[in-house]
Amino acid sequence: MKFEHKPVLLKEAVEGLNIREDGIYVDGTVGGAGHSIEIVNKLTTGKLIGIDQDINALNKAKDVLEDHLDKVILIHDNYVNIENILLNLGIEKVDGVLLDLGVSSHQLDERERGFSYQKDAPLDMRMDNTQKLSAWDVVNTYSERDLERIIWEYGEERWAKRIAQFIIDERRKKSIDTTLQLVEIIKNAIPKKVRMEGHHPAKKTFQAIRIEVNKELEVLKLAIPSINKMLNKGGRLCIITFHSLEDRIVKETFKELNKDCICPPEFPICICDKKRELKIITKKPIIPTEKEIAENPRARSAKLRIGERI
Ligand SMILES: C[S@@+](CC[C@H](N)C(=O)[O-])C[C@H]1O[C@@H](n2cnc3c(N)ncnc32)[C@H](O)[C@@H]1O
Repeated sequence: MKFEHKPVLLKEAVEGLNIREDGIYVDGTVGGAGHSIEIVNKLTTGKLIGIDQDINALNKAKDVLEDHLDKVILIHDNYVNIENILLNLGIEKVDGVLLDLGVSSHQLDERERGFSYQKDAPLDMRMDNTQKLSAWDVVNTYSERDLERIIWEYGEERWAKRIAQFIIDERRKKSIDTTLQLVEIIKNAIPKKVRMEGHHPAKKTFQAIRIEVNKELEVLKLAIPSINKMLNKGGRLCIITFHSLEDRIVKETFKELNKDCICPPEFPICICDKKRELKIITKKPIIPTEKEIAENPRARSAKLRIGERI
């Protein structure tokens, strides 16, 4: 199995964590440990907790981090459960958390995972293969309206309506079991002239279904306030996103946590008890340089936002 994953915004994200050599850090999306190894290299007595919901990714991370396992704890879980994960480890607070969202190159490389529209495989796309919902369920059981909404919103695919219709028509004849079967349906739904332009015609629909299967946006929205709660004062939260909806969630949630009072402006005194919990370090997101994008096209849509616990 080929397993190469170039970490995106590596220097910027690790610098953003403001690492102390004796601190405790969490990489909530450890993946191939590209960021984790850089974090660990800065620690002496400190610790890194690496979380991933994909057991294959954790096995790879263990190999990459093998010379540092005295400083590393690897956990198979969803980062949304950070409060419980840390509680179970007897850790009350941490000094920094990194999230590098989305799918990794190794997940795309592993044919049988069904993430790639270029390889024939069962429709799966689960990052955590102990979870029930898979791409097969989404494609074969969701209503036409839900399919259209997901493909439109998460994929930003302008042919969403036709693609949903074509999926439903095909489903009436037989179940849609494989990635290439789905690619063929998508190709038929998009007019030939449009299909020839730009990226692969199935790219946006596959992205949309993956986001739905792994509940990527819901998880992110829930997790940010939980992570913030677990940070020591001055602790940093660095989040790298690859999708405009993800970036919007990070931006809006940071803004909420940054507010001191949410009383209506006409109230003479504050009665809401809301306290400012997070300082926004990046007024504008940090984006990759032209050089990084040339070396790693996956970095093209990346955005890094950093917050600091108050
Ligand atoms: C883009 S990769 C991270 C790559 C890593 N930073 C590196 O440089 O090697 C994203 C990883 O996060 C994992 N992941 C995505 N969402 C997750 C979640 N909610 N909880 C835990 N892991 C998640 C995926 O399984 C994948 O391995």
